[in-house]
Amino acid sequence: MSAPAIVLRPGHASDLPHLQAFDPFAGRRDREIEEGLLQVAARQNEVLAYLTFSRGGFVGNPYIEFLAVAPSGRRQGLASRLLAWALAQHPGLRVFISTEADNFPMRALLQAGPWTEAGAVHGANGPRAAEVFFYTDVPSLVLPPARS
Ligand SMILES: CC(C)(COP(=O)(O)OP(=O)(O)OC[C@H]1O[C@@H](n2cnc3c(N)ncnc32)[C@H](O)[C@@H]1OP(=O)(O)O)[C@@H](O)C(=O)NCCC(=O)NCCS
Repeated sequence: MSAPAIVLRPGHASDLPHLQAFDPFAGRRDREIEEGLLQVAARQNEVLAYLTFSRGGFVGNPYIEFLAVAPSGRRQGLASRLLAWALAQHPGLRVFISTEADNFPMRALLQAGPWTEAGAVHGANGPRAAEVFFYTDVPSLVLPPARS
């Protein structure tokens, strides 16, 4: 029998305990869930990864704020699939994402995709590594001509 499919869907409040079990970032993701800014990758009831949009964006552009995959789910394309979904939500726009300069898995992931390095902000993470920003321009949707 084949393994249950992985689905991408909006996060629910009931997902929070699962997220917290692998979330490497400070704080909780309650607000993002409440505001519909958090998307998960799940296999049945098991949440394996999540991505959030920042409510305020980044200088007027959509900004992917958090992206995390449970250790057991890594290197299976989950982050890539969540990123592809996130970009598909923003046709015709420039989308930003960022990571600490010394986060080599994340930098490898971004290098494997359509991302252009935009520059580093020193001091954003206190004494830790600089935050490096990347962007990509999502193609516009091309619709068939309107029927006359
Ligand atoms: C970074 C992270 C999100 C990657 O998630 P993932 O689901 O494992 O990534 P994918 O499977 O989609 O990887 C796609 C490609 O990225 C590159 N990549 C990803 N992780 C890598 C690693 N540890 N080492 C080298 N290359 C890596 C590879 O090119 C990979 O393709 P391949 O597996 O066919 O070689 C995950 O390691 C993670 O959650 N880390 C902790 C949280 C974090 O740092 N988030 C980013 C800050 S916002």
